[in-house]
Amino acid sequence: MNHAKNVNGGFMNFFRKAVYAAVSLMFLFYVPDLLLAAAGDKALGTRSYKDYDTPDYCGTSCHLDFYRQWQQAMMSQAYVHHWDEIEYFKLAVPHAEKDEKVAEVKAGCNGCHAPIAFLAGDVPPPRPEKNSRANEAVSCEVCHTITGFEGDVPFNFNWISSPGDIKYGPRETIDSPAHQGAKSDFLNKPEFCGTCHNEKSPFGIWVKSTQLEWKEGPYAAEGVRCQDCHMTKARGQTAEMGNIYDDAWQHLFHGAHDPGKVGGTIELRIHPDIKEAEPGETVKFTVALFNQKTGHKFPTGSVEDRIVWLHVEAVDADGKVYHLAVDKKGFDGEEYTIGADVLAYQDMGIALDKPNFEGVQRDGIPIGDRIFRMPYFDPQGRMTIQQWNTASLGVDYRIGPRETKLETFTFDVPVDCAPGEMKITARLNYQKLVKPVADFLNVPEEESEIVPVNKHFTTVTILD
Ligand code: HEC
Ligand code: HEC
Ligand code: HEC
Ligand code: HEC
Repeated sequence: MNHAKNVNGGFMNFFRKAVYAAVSLMFLFYVPDLLLAAAGDKALGTRSYKDYDTPDYCGTSCHLDFYRQWQQAMMSQAYVHHWDEIEYFKLAVPHAEKDEKVAEVKAGCNGCHAPIAFLAGDVPPPRPEKNSRANEAVSCEVCHTITGFEGDVPFNFNWISSPGDIKYGPRETIDSPAHQGAKSDFLNKPEFCGTCHNEKSPFGIWVKSTQLEWKEGPYAAEGVRCQDCHMTKARGQTAEMGNIYDDAWQHLFHGAHDPGKVGGTIELRIHPDIKEAEPGETVKFTVALFNQKTGHKFPTGSVEDRIVWLHVEAVDADGKVYHLAVDKKGFDGEEYTIGADVLAYQDMGIALDKPNFEGVQRDGIPIGDRIFRMPYFDPQGRMTIQQWNTASLGVDYRIGPRETKLETFTFDVPVDCAPGEMKITARLNYQKLVKPVADFLNVPEEESEIVPVNKHFTTVTILD
């Protein structure tokens, strides 16, 4: 037995050395390629623009429909979009140049917003008005050259880009005169989306976690992926002259910028505890909010910018309007979830050279309304919309996928309230960017327009 083991051991040693030599040789030959396949921060400057085709090239004669869909989606706007330009050039770049701790974001923002510019080492890229290739943003070639990601958790653009003649897609065989195709098992996974839709700040805080939220929610368990809700399937062609498929993946990517996608996300119901009340009596209204549409929390993604709030108003028989404030529940950090007259976002002063900047209004909505949000805090503990300057997070009071939240409103019917029917309406509103910040930074109005999510009403009879 011993003897046999030794012989075996000798052979194994030889075998190990041979493998080692072979691997070393491979390294010699493939080192450039291994370097090029770097992911995340390390991929900065490892490629050049000419390694990637332009979206015009993909879209003008072959993939016409997908090209038009993509042009309408935020993917094509991720660099040129006004608010992105303002936040990057007015806040992030100057801040990164002043503060070593956040220096990495000067290049890093583009890892997700203008990935080809990032890979080409173009930092900061020319402004959108210069019409450079950075404007291609998240182009066809960004996604269709991604072959996988590095590490265990997808985040901070840790995708691996392998440009070349082969385009990766969902099907085994494709018949294209323009390029070769290969089936990718990665593109159809939520982890693929997570490489850009999960983000950690330089302080190690999860400032975007759409894929992580999805993963712990009910849709992941049922196998319903991001692609199923944002790239829905329909019968059609995927290229001019190409086959017709029953399940051609549409490139819609509709999200926060599509009022139709946001509308109806939460179903609302309001009811009183008593149907008849006398002036001076107390009525308690309960609002039920059911998240029936999103695969992640609502809001998700740029949570630092977003605000969702519940506004309840009663109108008596004479048309007099009363605003109802939400009942406090008493949880930690609740003050951030109720509209208030307070200042916040003082850390914008760093980039703007206003060291004593007192901030702007935190919410810009009626005082006393319930807010469904998660506050982000800067290193000094002040609320921030600068996700890269986020050192901690506050209470997570967003509405989870298929979660129902109940809110109550206790109303003391005024003694002079008109008798007759009182109508009480609950409205849920959504804003992509809190209005006081949008106004302060001159962000075009559409970013802070009020998008109605849903509304519902009930009535109470006020007795004589
Ligand atoms: C290479 C990075 C990258 C990948 C991969 C990626 N996204 Fe995005 N996505 C972005 C960026 C950046 C934006 C934001 C554009 C903006 O508002 O500036 C965005 C925007 C969106 C939006 C629109 C949100 C809105 O505000 O309207 C949706 C929906 C979306 N992505 C879904 C997906 C899905 C689903 C996948 C996977 C199939 C995916 N994304 C993969 C970078 C990426
Ligand atoms: C069950 C359907 C469903 C699934 C699954 C789903 N989403 Fe969504 N998503 C929605 C709906 C509806 C909205 C619009 C409401 C909103 O803005 O949250 C949305 C919004 C978004 C937005 C914009 C959010 C904002 O407030 O700015 C992004 C980005 C997004 N989804 C990405 C993803 C990614 C990435 C995944 C997978 C990890 C995913 N979604 C899975 C339904 C879904
Ligand atoms: C944000 C990433 C992303 C961008 C940008 C993108 N795609 Fe796709 N594309 C995908 C994913 C993911 C799939 C496959 C979906 C699946 O398998 O679930 C896909 C599928 C396809 C398919 C095959 C569809 C089918 O049903 O066989 C074609 C063709 C295609 N894309 C072309 C394009 C073109 C052209 C553009 C640019 C105009 C583009 N894509 C932009 C992610 C992207
Ligand atoms: C890990 C990828 C990633 C990085 C890094 C990243 N972003 Fe984003 N960014 C996204 C995605 C994805 C969205 C869309 C989320 C959504 O719709 O809710 C987004 C949305 C935004 C928006 C909001 C767009 C809108 O219209 O509401 C702005 C502004 C923005 N990013 C600026 C920046 C800046 C500035 C940086 C660098 C400090 C940065 N981003 C870094 C992925 C990233």
